[in-house]
Amino acid sequence: MARLHQHRKGIVLAGGRGTRLGPLTRAVNKHLLPIHDRPMIHFPLACLMMAGLREIAVISTPEETPRMRRLLGDGRRWGLRITHLVQPQPDGIARALILAEDFLDGAAPTLALGDNVFLGRKLGPFLRTVMRGSGPCAIVAETDDPSACGVLALDGSGKPVGMVEKPATPPSNLAVTGFYRLDPDAPDLARSLVPSPRGEVEITDLLEIYLQEQRLGVVRLPRGISWFDAGTPEGLFSATCAVRELAAQGISFHGCPEEIAWRNGWIPAAALARLGRALAPSTYGRRLVTLADAALDHRSCDQPSAIPLPGTPPAPRRSPAAFRHAANVPPL
Ligand code: G1P
Repeated sequence: MARLHQHRKGIVLAGGRGTRLGPLTRAVNKHLLPIHDRPMIHFPLACLMMAGLREIAVISTPEETPRMRRLLGDGRRWGLRITHLVQPQPDGIARALILAEDFLDGAAPTLALGDNVFLGRKLGPFLRTVMRGSGPCAIVAETDDPSACGVLALDGSGKPVGMVEKPATPPSNLAVTGFYRLDPDAPDLARSLVPSPRGEVEITDLLEIYLQEQRLGVVRLPRGISWFDAGTPEGLFSATCAVRELAAQGISFHGCPEEIAWRNGWIPAAALARLGRALAPSTYGRRLVTLADAALDHRSCDQPSAIPLPGTPPAPRRSPAAFRHAANVPPL
């Protein structure tokens, strides 16, 4: 198992019809809607980046994939390798794993739902801790509205015993959030599932298999990290307010692939400055320029080089920690 977990790839699922957000989603995929000053899809993408993943598939609808391509490109400017995949029908989160099988090529997938927003100063360290574990793992969070989510059932001693999708009578107030660390068996297991009454192959059914095989880790979202399902008007608005509030406090790495790529040591400060200048009339772009300028002002004469993607020709290498030190990058 250890060998299998050395290679992980990320998947952002950004398909679906977005019916809970109509009429906002009549002409636009919900994942392209704004959360404050950035597109929704930036948030799950940034989470995967914080988790250390650089090979990422973005799965969207046939209509929206060209727009996703225009927005995200091949990811190279953020030190990523992004593959765009098309999900012809909104037939379930678990089905997307089958679709991504060739992309995964035996790697363990970490799946982030395109409308899930996680916010908190310590989000990066939390996600990296989650990724350090082995085997499949779900993150659960307390919610006031468990009937709208996948819900974890616990026994009298607090041990997880089941998962149920959108229960009329929820067995707990613990929602299963949309960030799943899975294992290489996931596509095969997904293939064995039958669609639910809503016509989707449910991620909760997949997690339930792992749970029954006593292979599923369950992690509670720690205090200080909030979770939003931005696929509803209320969630979209609450996430927007929270992102704006954090930005006002000078915390704006959430949903910002440029900043995370730089902090991870995947692009140098000069590239961050270039990306910022290209967006400069916007506050988003100006903030990147300010960040890059501060780093360049403090940088030692010893120019740090970016850490290349796996599989690219060798270049002078530096650990992320050494890069941060040389480029005066504050840790996340
Ligand atoms: C999906 C999952 C559900 C999970 C939720 C998190 O629901 O099926 O288990 O709790 O995302 O946002 P959906 O967005 O399909 O309603």
